[in-house]
Amino acid sequence: MTRFLLLLSLALAACDSGSPMSEENDDTHTETTLRALATAKGLHVGAAVAAGPLASDPAYREVLGTEFNMLTAENVMKMGPLRPSPQAFSWDDADALVDFAESNDMAIRGHALVWHSSLPSWVESANWGRQELIAILQEHITAVVTRYSGRIAHWDVVNEAVGDDARRRPTLFNEVIGPEYLQMAFGFAHDADPDAKLFYNDYSAEGLGAKSDAVYALVQELLSTGTPIHGVGLQMHVTTSNPPSMDAVRSNIRRLAALGMEVHITEMDVRIPESPTDGDLVAQAQVYNDVLELCLSESACTSLVFWGFTDRHSWIPSFFPGFGAALPFDENYQPKLAYQVMQQTLSN
Ligand code: G3I
Repeated sequence: MTRFLLLLSLALAACDSGSPMSEENDDTHTETTLRALATAKGLHVGAAVAAGPLASDPAYREVLGTEFNMLTAENVMKMGPLRPSPQAFSWDDADALVDFAESNDMAIRGHALVWHSSLPSWVESANWGRQELIAILQEHITAVVTRYSGRIAHWDVVNEAVGDDARRRPTLFNEVIGPEYLQMAFGFAHDADPDAKLFYNDYSAEGLGAKSDAVYALVQELLSTGTPIHGVGLQMHVTTSNPPSMDAVRSNIRRLAALGMEVHITEMDVRIPESPTDGDLVAQAQVYNDVLELCLSESACTSLVFWGFTDRHSWIPSFFPGFGAALPFDENYQPKLAYQVMQQTLSN
């Protein structure tokens, strides 16, 4: 019997003897949450948080605080939501997220200081000179990182600077400031909180290939200029039909670790058809579990963060019509097979 089939049978047996979410099982459940099991192994297991349900849905808050020891902001720390106008910051949603994390003793990944997407229209629409845009970048990063200094330990400083063609993405920042905007951004963040760990974050750079080679080269280049970069985020938005090879992801993590990088899996979800079959759920559980086992076995991999946690709130259905059900909890906050299998792995 393969290891995964063994885990699957243990997970199904555990389901038969009572769901970990069932009320009669509360004491046992506290000890067998992903959070408790991951904490015991020194791993951060986290979820991206949406401001709406955090504010309005007690069940969302309950599962989030019980099952995860880390959270990240799905949207509210992006420049667009934070900076509605040049004069004003809109801190309320970001503050609420940080307050929730602190009340529940959770670590925080700040996401994301510099990204070509979700920019405020006043930034996107103007015809900036180089010094003007550098000043905006510096002011923004300094204000945000300073506000949460000592409270947010990990920041995605630059997100998705490498394009699908593995070349530097021609973003506003790259075109107006030049590629050195990356060094500047990391420098501004480091000046604002010298203790924060600063990450470069990207998608489709998990395994080996032209894009992950470009990310690796980018990290080498940043290090060669003395840029304060401490880690790389591998997003891991994947499917069951074409998941990255775990051997390739392991090699990639190891070469980044050899540069001194910490690696976080930052945005994992595994999309399947929106009305999944049992086979889809088993295949999904296997991908989640493969990544968890890999992360546990590589000392450089210190965080596994899902892009959400419940199918009730997920970006997948609107961005990939026909797909959904991508997260470890279903729409009613019940743990799915992926959860049960990861729970078995963390229990061993
Ligand atoms: O909040 C507004 C709401 O007021 C408005 O009525 C509504 C109408 O469209 O839009 C709402 O904002 C949307 C927001 O999600 C919150 O739901 C934005 O339009 C929409 O663009 C935004 O999408 C987010 C996307 O990033 C772009 O920022 C997704 O939720 C979020 O999951 C996704 O996350 C990204 C990571 O940051 C980087 N890696 C890829 C990942 C998936 O695309």
